[in-house]
Amino acid sequence: MKNIVVLISGEGSNLQAMIDACASGQISGKICAVISNNADAYGLVRAKKAGIPSFVFERKAYETHQAMDQAIAYQIDAIEADLIVLAGYMNILTPAFTQRFAGKILNIHPSLLPKYSGLDTYQRAMTDGETEHGMTIHFVNEIVDGGSIILQAKVPIFPEDEIEDVIARVQEQEHRYYPLVIAWFCADRLKEVDGKAYLDGKLLPPQGYGNEE
Ligand code: GAR
Repeated sequence: MKNIVVLISGEGSNLQAMIDACASGQISGKICAVISNNADAYGLVRAKKAGIPSFVFERKAYETHQAMDQAIAYQIDAIEADLIVLAGYMNILTPAFTQRFAGKILNIHPSLLPKYSGLDTYQRAMTDGETEHGMTIHFVNEIVDGGSIILQAKVPIFPEDEIEDVIARVQEQEHRYYPLVIAWFCADRLKEVDGKAYLDGKLLPPQGYGNEE
């Protein structure tokens, strides 16, 4: 069974989906720890309720960003994590960190990458008049939101939508698909080799599973 560590900064609804998927047996893995860069993250309450140890690393406690990431890396090594899952972790990881754990870090991002990397993806998509938005699950490398794509899910944006409607639609997809991708990784079905994502030994298309051109 694989050891999973989840990095969060806030609400932790994706963390909750993973906790539930471990409990139901969908993910054959164990969330060994939750790490947050925000002491007030509600996800820490979720971890506590599920009996998962948590650790807080706040930027103000470290002289440099590098030093903070190194402290997190030591903690992850101590846990002997096989998989690092970023779930709303709103802090850019240093290249030293991403290289150290290459092929073992997953991220979820609320857009159809490569469109709308970075922040405020919903507002930017709606301002641009997009008729669809979505989420991307990808391996993490040193380029922000730039690692190989594993799976994307699209949702419509309707003319009458408020931003909350689109957020709810995207998050529903996140909660459905992040546990699935983590289950693949824990079952040794999903791998990253030379910066490319493979499922069951087959190279995934550039936009991820099910998006053959
Ligand atoms: C998620 O919607 C995730 O896509 C986004 O933060 C949210 C966290 O929600 N991540 C990013 O924007 C990363 N660039 P949660 O704390 O309820 O899981």
